[in-house]
Amino acid sequence: MIVAITNQKGGVGKTTTALNLAAALAIRGKQTLLIDLDPQGNSTLSFVERDQITASVYDAFTDRSCSLEDVIVPAAQQDNLSVVPARISLAKLEARLVGELDAHFRLKDLLTPLTSKYPYVVIDCPPTLGLLTVNALVAASHLLIPIQSSYFALEGTDDLLETIEKVRSRANPSLDIIGVLVTMHDKRTSLGKDIQNQISKVFGPKVFKTIISKNVRLEESPAYRESIFSFAPDSKGASDYYSLCEEVIDRA
Ligand SMILES: Nc1ncnc2c1ncn2[C@@H]1O[C@H](COP(=O)(O)OP(=O)(O)OP(=O)(O)O)[C@@H](O)[C@H]1O
Ligand SMILES: [Mg+2]
Repeated sequence: MIVAITNQKGGVGKTTTALNLAAALAIRGKQTLLIDLDPQGNSTLSFVERDQITASVYDAFTDRSCSLEDVIVPAAQQDNLSVVPARISLAKLEARLVGELDAHFRLKDLLTPLTSKYPYVVIDCPPTLGLLTVNALVAASHLLIPIQSSYFALEGTDDLLETIEKVRSRANPSLDIIGVLVTMHDKRTSLGKDIQNQISKVFGPKVFKTIISKNVRLEESPAYRESIFSFAPDSKGASDYYSLCEEVIDRA
């Protein structure tokens, strides 16, 4: 399965979900590829040292002689996990591919030769609905939509669903929403419960049973460049993401 972690809203937990879901799948023994499509490169840096990155996904997107295999690096300290790194240069991609007829299909074409080597591919998307996210939607078999448990949780989901429908109507008819994930949830507050009900009303059974609680260890782990499983294996964050991984495998 190729699962894109998408929501054009910033700071909703896409990167946290992408890197910890990928790590959990790898720990479960699944050969997993994490593709970083965010020019900020945050998920890359949890597994790869900056000086280890010689080529990035930008090179594969723009140089026809460069395959995805050429830019893949094994994750440090995590068996079964490989990473396609992003660098800030990725921010120039849209301008670079203007007028190229296959611009939306680049990632799909790059991934096709790798699907048997990596049965699980996780894509971390940037907070936009631009060319990078559309490439992820075209390449993906599944979408996972993280929604932050906050007042304006559902703001922007109409635009996201409209983009998904556009991609489905032509480029990728079999694209499936594997689930909607409530993140940074505080179950002690009535606001938290209200928001959860609201999200359930809109997405029904698509909402994952697993809910990611607000967790200090999850907040700290990026600063230490680690997944939650190596940074704080006994934390609530680790058990939440482990249970998400089980649900993803079951639903795939
Ligand atoms: N469950 C959680 N509990 C506490 N903090 C969290 C949790 N999940 C994510 N965070 C923190 O919230 C911030 C935003 O998370 P993250 O970077 O994963 O979001 P994002 O959607 O990828 O953001 P962007 O849109 O900028 O790419 C980060 O500082 C992260 O450490
Ligand atoms: Mg991110």
